[in-house]
Amino acid sequence: MRAALLILLGLVIGVIGTAQVMSTLAARNPMPKAVMHTMSYHTSELKQAMKSQACDAAKIQPHLLRLQSTATDIVPTFGIADQGFADAANKLQASLQQAVASAPASCAALAAALKPVGEACQDCHQKYR
Ligand code: HEC
Repeated sequence: MRAALLILLGLVIGVIGTAQVMSTLAARNPMPKAVMHTMSYHTSELKQAMKSQACDAAKIQPHLLRLQSTATDIVPTFGIADQGFADAANKLQASLQQAVASAPASCAALAAALKPVGEACQDCHQKYR
């Protein structure tokens, strides 16, 4: 009888512990970092294209478009209610809009289009990262 009660007690403690760990994990929002890593993936694909001198428009435009659409997720996912943060995110969006519109079709054009984009990433990281 005593052994059975101890086993039951152990089970209850285990269930409570698991529930606590699960809620702690759920509270950690993976989205902000996921957004940053997605943008980082597309920028590194573009850098790779420049490195290997393979900058045809059909290859770069999809990455620019993915960067542009992912950048719109920054403000809603980070939940940083700061005007400077929103301004920095807007600056990135504006530079990406220009990069997409310029439709670079050479590595030199891509490098020129990405320069303000990289600066926008850096500006925000310097202040908020
Ligand atoms: C409006 C602000 C802002 C802009 C613009 C921005 N970032 Fe970030 N980024 C952050 C913040 C804040 C963090 C720190 C996130 C954290 O530690 O949770 C971060 C972190 C990162 C990280 C590290 C993620 C990790 O797991 O620690 C990478 C990679 C990254 N950013 C890439 C980029 C790239 C590439 C761009 C431009 C295309 C960019 N970011 C533009 C705010 C910004």
